[in-house]
Amino acid sequence: MNYKNIEDKLKEMLPEKRLKHSRSVSQCAVKLSKIYDCDIEKAKIAGLIHDCAKYFNDEQVEYSIKKFNIKLDPLEENNLALSHSIIGSYIIKDVFNIEEEDIINAVKYHTTGRENMTLLEKIIYMADLIEDGRKFPLVDELRELTYGGKLDEALLLSFNNTIKYVIERNQLIHPRTVSARNYLLKEIQ
Ligand SMILES: [Fe+2]
Ligand SMILES: [Fe+2]
Repeated sequence: MNYKNIEDKLKEMLPEKRLKHSRSVSQCAVKLSKIYDCDIEKAKIAGLIHDCAKYFNDEQVEYSIKKFNIKLDPLEENNLALSHSIIGSYIIKDVFNIEEEDIINAVKYHTTGRENMTLLEKIIYMADLIEDGRKFPLVDELRELTYGGKLDEALLLSFNNTIKYVIERNQLIHPRTVSARNYLLKEIQ
């Protein structure tokens, strides 16, 4: 499927607001691919499609989990805010015929990150946070780092920020985010 076909299909799956975010992540991912020499076409598609499962209802979630034999961990279970990335990684293959492992993993890990992320995974993770429509206290600093050639520093700052945020609210932290953060910190040092 090309960009237009995917966009048309997504119109049936996402509300306008989320579609706008998705287009914006795609545009941002393209810009970042030019800076970091990543595959532009893959980044464009991965950005557009990354939230495809974000608005699944309970029935769709259950159906997908059975159909693709998806193993969600205890934190992801009954938590679409986390599981939409895992479920989405199966949907893009099934519904959108996307076979590229690169794109599948960029979608799969866009909410938590993981250890040893690929360039495309990093780009989609950051594009999701810093696309033009995003507003939150740290966003300008993250944009500066990300567009300024400091992708790993941006990721580390973002992981640290996420971890602080969930600790302050006494919420659970996904272990993949902790692993992603530790891995990156060791690499940067
Ligand atoms: Fe998402
Ligand atoms: Fe998103």
